[in-house]
Amino acid sequence: MLLEMINIDKSFFNVKVLNDVSLHVEKGEVHALLGENGAGKSTLMNILGGVHEKDRGTITLDHEKIEKINPKIAPQLGIAFVHQELNLFNDLRVFENIFLREEITNKFGQLDKQKMIGEVEKLFHNMGVDIDPTVMVSELDTSKKQLLEIAKALRKDAKLFILDEPTTALGNLEIENLFSIIRRLKEQGKSFIFISHKMPEIFQIADKYTVLRNGDFVGAGSISEVTPESLTRMMVGDCYDNRDIYVCRELKEPILELQNFSGKGFQDVNLTVNKGEVLSLTGLQGSGCSELMQCIFGCTKPTSGTLKINGKVVSGGIRTLMKNKVGMIASNRKENAILKDLCLLENCYVSEHTLSWKKQKINKQRELEKYNVLSKKLNIKANSCKDLIVSLSGGNQQKVMIARWLNTDAEIFLLDNPTQGIDVGAKSEIYKLIVQLSEQGKTIIMNTQEISEIQKISDRCAIFYHSRLQIVLDRKDINEETVMLYATNAHGIREGQNGKQ
Ligand SMILES: Nc1ncnc2c1ncn2[C@@H]1O[C@H](COP(=O)(O)OP(=O)(O)OP(=O)(O)O)[C@@H](O)[C@H]1O
Ligand SMILES: [Mg+2]
Repeated sequence: MLLEMINIDKSFFNVKVLNDVSLHVEKGEVHALLGENGAGKSTLMNILGGVHEKDRGTITLDHEKIEKINPKIAPQLGIAFVHQELNLFNDLRVFENIFLREEITNKFGQLDKQKMIGEVEKLFHNMGVDIDPTVMVSELDTSKKQLLEIAKALRKDAKLFILDEPTTALGNLEIENLFSIIRRLKEQGKSFIFISHKMPEIFQIADKYTVLRNGDFVGAGSISEVTPESLTRMMVGDCYDNRDIYVCRELKEPILELQNFSGKGFQDVNLTVNKGEVLSLTGLQGSGCSELMQCIFGCTKPTSGTLKINGKVVSGGIRTLMKNKVGMIASNRKENAILKDLCLLENCYVSEHTLSWKKQKINKQRELEKYNVLSKKLNIKANSCKDLIVSLSGGNQQKVMIARWLNTDAEIFLLDNPTQGIDVGAKSEIYKLIVQLSEQGKTIIMNTQEISEIQKISDRCAIFYHSRLQIVLDRKDINEETVMLYATNAHGIREGQNGKQ
């Protein structure tokens, strides 16, 4: 046995978040740590990584009892940690981030930049990652930043790698790449603790599992002996409901139209979205869906073409779009959505307040009432709405972002990867909510790479490849094979070949 964490307890301000939890990981094993948002997964890992101190219990690594652990000691013990949230310095270069506090110097004590850059190039080459080691981290998009976090950990000659939701910003190809690295290292006897809310990933990569629920240990065993359904039930209890939630509706008149719409990352998009529709956008990472959404919301300017809402040409910045009743949940919450220094309540009403900026006084009582309704609807797990948003688990932070936009009475919702970091139970709550909104006549445009998610709720699916809209599929035609065919342009290649014959 490589790692044994036994009878671990942990409380924050008298609230118990881990209650007698145990975890056993063997050498050369990928161990999935599972549980709903707020179950205590990151907290348990933060104890192992020395970020938090346990209140009770023992930790044994390689048969040696560990008495003291902190973020400096953990790597010396052979533990490498990819945290759930990014921990990079935007104002430093890629290689400087990787070698932070472990800089290579020459015999004169000066930084040996060439050597560090060379090492990073080698590392990226092994990982199949295409990043220039000398660019500023601020210039990287979030998926590259996440790969950089992973690279930082993989550089270490660790025995045990903790990967806390490492794939939330990655595309499917990048995830495949990561998994082949994990498999390679596993063969060398390295162990992994892998946290993810994406069930297919768990069944692809993990050997064993441990499930936590509300800070309690629920069960552990081999992945080969469970099914996605049985694991989900362990995580959420008997309340798991996997029924079909799509509701067949008659769609109304067009509400949003794009005509020859081009901008940074997407070209010449023609698309009409109807009132009350749920339209999914999908494509490989960098195919343009996210960029298109940002441009529709006024974060970037289109280079040509028009956007019409309710038949009227709309152009302008975010506030103009918000006034036209458009709301957007941006992807990558830590970077683009949460306001770290504000509490839950404030995070919830900022957008609504921006809209009603003429009324400068915030009516806290009214906001509180609205927050209470939304937090109940979304089942936000928090002690008090006055807590800082960063004290919530990742998935619960995401729910607050959804609450923020429900609070604005928007008619069109742009949802960029809305279930990022959300647990299986809460995901189906969010799907239900999206369906409910569409039944009320709200329009949803959702960007996601999870095909199961697209199938569950979409009326249509628009597939992008290399900045261009390839095809819009009707609900009946949405399946994994067809979506991948268009998303990878295999369809185009096939057609080309047919043409040649
Ligand atoms: N620094 C902190 N201060 C106060 N409470 C905290 C702190 N860190 C975590 N908690 C609380 O501990 C509980 C467990 O959180 P944790 O982050 O471990 O959940 P998780 O299982 O990782 O969830 P997710 O899947 O959403 O990331 C949550 O209720 C959270 O609010
Ligand atoms: Mg977590």
